[in-house]
Amino acid sequence: MIRGSGMYVPPGIVTNDMLSRIMDTSDEWIVPRTGIRERRYVDPAQGSSTLGVLAAQAALENAGLTAKDIDFVIFATMTPDHYFPGNGGLLATALGMETTHALDIRMQCAGFLSGLQTADAFIRSGTYDRILLVGADVHSSLMPWPESVWDVLLGRTEGPCDPGWYAKATGMRDRAVLFGDAGGALVLEANDSGDGRGFLGFRMYTDGAHWQKLYVPGGGSANRPYMTGEMQDNLDTVPIVEGRQVFRLATQLMPAAVRDVLESAGATLDEVDLVLMHQANLRINEAVQKVLELPDERVFNNIQKYGNTTSATLPLVYDEARRAGRIQPGNLVCFTALGAGLHWGAALARV
Ligand code: ACO
Repeated sequence: MIRGSGMYVPPGIVTNDMLSRIMDTSDEWIVPRTGIRERRYVDPAQGSSTLGVLAAQAALENAGLTAKDIDFVIFATMTPDHYFPGNGGLLATALGMETTHALDIRMQCAGFLSGLQTADAFIRSGTYDRILLVGADVHSSLMPWPESVWDVLLGRTEGPCDPGWYAKATGMRDRAVLFGDAGGALVLEANDSGDGRGFLGFRMYTDGAHWQKLYVPGGGSANRPYMTGEMQDNLDTVPIVEGRQVFRLATQLMPAAVRDVLESAGATLDEVDLVLMHQANLRINEAVQKVLELPDERVFNNIQKYGNTTSATLPLVYDEARRAGRIQPGNLVCFTALGAGLHWGAALARV
């Protein structure tokens, strides 16, 4: 069962108007198509492990526990601090853990959902009683522009932006406006009380045939050497997103996964108090809501304030919904996500 939740977003707010200082975009384009009004970016050199640590501390506090009470750590991110090692060990040592085992998950926007399934399986098998599951991503690290362009974006200098970088940034505007930086965490534990709280089922899927719809061409062992200056210059380190196709797949596959998990658990949609979706685009989530015929009071979105924070989105919506009083003990909550891979699925929990 979920014992506690927490989140951390960096204080640096970047509005749509601020982005329009360095690329040809506007609030008028972004809001109607995505719902996103602003996102957060970290200060330079603050990696995703740090956001994860701060979110984990908040989740432990909410659970009334300390790091010493945790048996196992799972860290989901697609933007780890380093190529290797992964973030799990970095987080564990920052929290003062000495030898607690830590698993790293690289499954992009479905990473946290997959982490929930992994944690639940370890708890059910009796391997671990209490697991800290963390999701954090720093998308601003994927933005290729130099510090002089950041200065214009953040208003540290008046500008205008260098015309060459303005053109390059405009070339990636469909992706650059979507993402933000954040960390979120849940503390999960075994529940032998018989009160029915806990995960009731998962339905998880992967179709690798779609991998080129969302991926980063530059960097990685498919290249030798894995990183070159030329990749940077050609912007091959910036994610490729086939936005319209992903949009279409998300609006079909997420509702289907929700229906599958309900059927597998012997529950109906009418019984679900809240559906929490991955936050890639508010218009995707509105379409899913419509397909599932859910009233507004049974969904919760926060992409308007944070953009798509990839592995952090599900703990972010869970934590904000809980603090807003939208999740009460005993509620039936359904989680669903879809991301690069393609990986997607749904989970059902009595919280
Ligand atoms: N500002 C202004 N104009 C823009 C912007 C922008 N930020 N982005 C694109 N445009 C322009 C394009 O250049 C194009 O102009 P043209 O017609 O003159 O060529 C026009 O707007 C339409 O562009 P599209 O890319 O077709 O816009 P679309 O309506 O499909 O919206 C969007 C793009 C918002 C990305 C949408 O497709 C979407 O949300 N897709 C799903 C999101 C997604 O894939 N998320 C990734 C999941 S993340 C993960 O798993 C890691």
